[in-house]
Amino acid sequence: MQKADEPHLNVSQLLSHDDFKKFCEKNDISPLIYEKSVEIPRFVRTIPSTTETPTQVIGIVKKELEDRYKQDISIDSVSWIPEKFGFFQLSQDFNISQCESYKNGKIYGIDISSAMAVFSLNPKPNEHVLDLCCAPGAKLCFIQDYVTLDNNKAQSVSLTGTDINLSRLHTCKTLLKKYKTLNTRLLLADGTKYNCSVPPLRKEGRKIKKFLSRLYADGSDKNVLPDEIPDSGFVFYESPGVFTEMFREEQRIENTNKRRKIETPVVVGNSYPQLYDKVLVDAECSTDGSIKHLLKVLQGGWEVFNDRILDQTRMNTITDLQKRLISNGFSLLKPDGVMVYSTCSLTRDQNEGVVEWLLSNYKEAVVVEPFEDLKQVPYREGKIKNTARLDPIVSNTSGLFIARIKRQIL
Ligand SMILES: C[S@@+](CC[C@H](N)C(=O)[O-])C[C@H]1O[C@@H](n2cnc3c(N)ncnc32)[C@H](O)[C@@H]1O
Repeated sequence: MQKADEPHLNVSQLLSHDDFKKFCEKNDISPLIYEKSVEIPRFVRTIPSTTETPTQVIGIVKKELEDRYKQDISIDSVSWIPEKFGFFQLSQDFNISQCESYKNGKIYGIDISSAMAVFSLNPKPNEHVLDLCCAPGAKLCFIQDYVTLDNNKAQSVSLTGTDINLSRLHTCKTLLKKYKTLNTRLLLADGTKYNCSVPPLRKEGRKIKKFLSRLYADGSDKNVLPDEIPDSGFVFYESPGVFTEMFREEQRIENTNKRRKIETPVVVGNSYPQLYDKVLVDAECSTDGSIKHLLKVLQGGWEVFNDRILDQTRMNTITDLQKRLISNGFSLLKPDGVMVYSTCSLTRDQNEGVVEWLLSNYKEAVVVEPFEDLKQVPYREGKIKNTARLDPIVSNTSGLFIARIKRQIL
């Protein structure tokens, strides 16, 4: 076995490594997927604007890149996604992060496969949406923009994002601010236990400060201890919009009740529905569907790669976490609501295996067509009917598994 201090491997060395070959065989993954990975385009999303169309924004990006790289650069729309959503593709050779439009928050990079999880969720205006593993937040930001773009006017959902990783939540907050995403709250929460219904929890904001200062005092700021997080989570950030208004309403009711000496209910009467219309479980996974992630892990050496990607004990821990996430996500879903389960792994255990487990434990769960409103998405059906697998060969994107699960009323 290669030692941690041996030189990093490249794609072809990885593919010819015996242990990785066995991993691909065992999981029925075609190595061609990884070979083709290096050729997939870079995807760019334009942020909705009232002053510039996506084509105008991308025209400015093109000019900037052409000036910098001193050559003609093609930036094309993505044929199977309606233009109104503002997705474009260009070669991986060109870096967009130095462009003014990127710095000013007019564009950002997101692989189309990731965006497809949001297309599958298909959020509608005024729905309550939960993104259970939200950080660093590319899908979270797109969920709000999707609703505006889908309806051709400013529309939104009440959006709750939870994640257990504090530093990733910080990144998420930065993204929400940079892209001026409204009506969205972030909670530090363990998605396997999170049980907070839709109403706001603003008062918790004070508690998180105490909790964090205790962690910082211990010198263990990065190691959030899940057992210490209440099942309702800690409010980490709220962008302007609906939650502030809901909170004000809650305060108003509380004050009225105080005056009348009525005990304030924890949940504000029946004014707000208690479960979510849509839940996204974009689960923690072994990231083996993305060659970029694999090569990043390989930078740590073969031992690290073995522990993180190939080791069966680690795999079992991940699938156990995924089952706990998907089952909690499902229990937070309204009857007739829709949950999307996605991972960027290509293994059966982390995808069909987890979905099968859910189906066998919840008789209300049914897997439905993955893309309600898009008819031309290039994907392969997974081993369960209606599940979708995107990959570099079939869709010219990174790898992603998607299952769209409805909570049927029995
Ligand atoms: C695939 S990433 C999510 C990517 C994110 N949806 C996006 O589009 O940017 C998986 C996330 O799950 C989070 N996670 C892992 N265990 C968790 C748990 N028990 N509860 C909530 N989040 C968890 C990780 O911190 C990580 O941010």
